[in-house]
Amino acid sequence: EEELSLRPQTLKQYIGQTKAKENLAIFIEAAKMREEPLDHVLLYGPPGLGKTTLAHIIANEMQVEFRTTSGPAIEKAGDLAAILSSLEAGDVLFIDEIHRLPRAVEEILYPAMEDFCLDIVIGTGSTARSVRLDLPPFTLVGATTRAGLLTAPLRDRFGVLSRLDYYYPEALTEIIIRSAEVFNVGINTQAAIELAKRSRGTPRIANRLLKRVRDISQVKGESAISLSTARVALDMLQVDKIGLDHIDHKLLLSILDQFNGGPVGLDTLSATIGEESQTIEDVYEPFLLQKGFIQRTPRGRIATEQTYLHFNRPYKNSTE
Ligand code: ADE
Repeated sequence: EEELSLRPQTLKQYIGQTKAKENLAIFIEAAKMREEPLDHVLLYGPPGLGKTTLAHIIANEMQVEFRTTSGPAIEKAGDLAAILSSLEAGDVLFIDEIHRLPRAVEEILYPAMEDFCLDIVIGTGSTARSVRLDLPPFTLVGATTRAGLLTAPLRDRFGVLSRLDYYYPEALTEIIIRSAEVFNVGINTQAAIELAKRSRGTPRIANRLLKRVRDISQVKGESAISLSTARVALDMLQVDKIGLDHIDHKLLLSILDQFNGGPVGLDTLSATIGEESQTIEDVYEPFLLQKGFIQRTPRGRIATEQTYLHFNRPYKNSTE
C-alpha cells in the first residue's frame, strides 16, 4: 500500500503540468530501456509550482538516489567537486536556484555535465597542474525561476528543458482535495474550488491556505470545511476574490496612487512598498503579468485598465 504524503512520489500522482509530465514520462522510460542515466534536466518557473517535487519524482521513477544542494550553498569549486566525486552511477543531483552558482563553481560543472569528468588544479604557481578525474554518469536536475537567468553555456548543457506554469483551477482543486485527504480533513467541493480560485495558481500557496482554513473550520466545530468558512477564512487572511494577497495589493495600489498608474521602475517600486526587488520580480510580478494587471514597458511597470477596474477606480491611460 502506498503511503499518502503531501508531496506526490510518482508522475502518476503528480497533478497538472501535463506537458512537462508527459515529456518527462517518455524521456524517463527511454533512459530506463537503454539502462542509461536520464539526460540533465532544467526545471524553470515561478516558485511554489513543484520543481523540487518533480526532481524527487525523477529520482524515484529512475530508481536512483536523490542528492540535493543549491546554488547559494556552494561557495567554492572544491565544495562542488566534493559533491560530484561522491556521486554513484545514475544518481540525481538536484541544484536548486542553480542561477546563483558562483562563476568559478559553474565552470567545474561544464566538463562534469558534458563528459562526466572533473578537472581539478593541484598546487599553485609554477608547480600547478591540472588533473582530470572520471565521474560516474549522473543526472543533474537544475531549478531556477527563469531559464534566462542562466548563462548560455550552462543552459546549453541541459538536454531537457521543462517549463512549469501556474496551475489551472481544476488541477489546483484536485490538489487541494488530495491534500485535505493527507491532512485527514473533509472539504466540501465548492470550498475546494473557492480555495483553488484564490491560490495564485500555486500548490504551495493552496496547501498553506488549506491549513489555515482547516484551523478555522475546526475551531467552528465543522465536520468538513464548508464554502462559507473557506470564504470567511480567506477574507481574514487578506486573500481577495481572485487570490491577490496583501502584497499584491500594496504593489498595485502603489502604482495607481503614488505613480499615477506608472510607469515606475522596479527599484523605485521596491523602495516604496518595502519588498526586495528580487522578490517582486520572481514572486509577485510573474502572476500579475500573466493575469494582465501590469505591463512591463521600457520606462517601467504600468497598471492596466483591469487593475483600475479591480480596485473600482476610474481608468487613466498612462501610455497616452
Ligand atoms: N502537491 C503539491 N503539488 C502537487 C502536484 N502537482 N500534484 C499533486 N500533489 C501536489
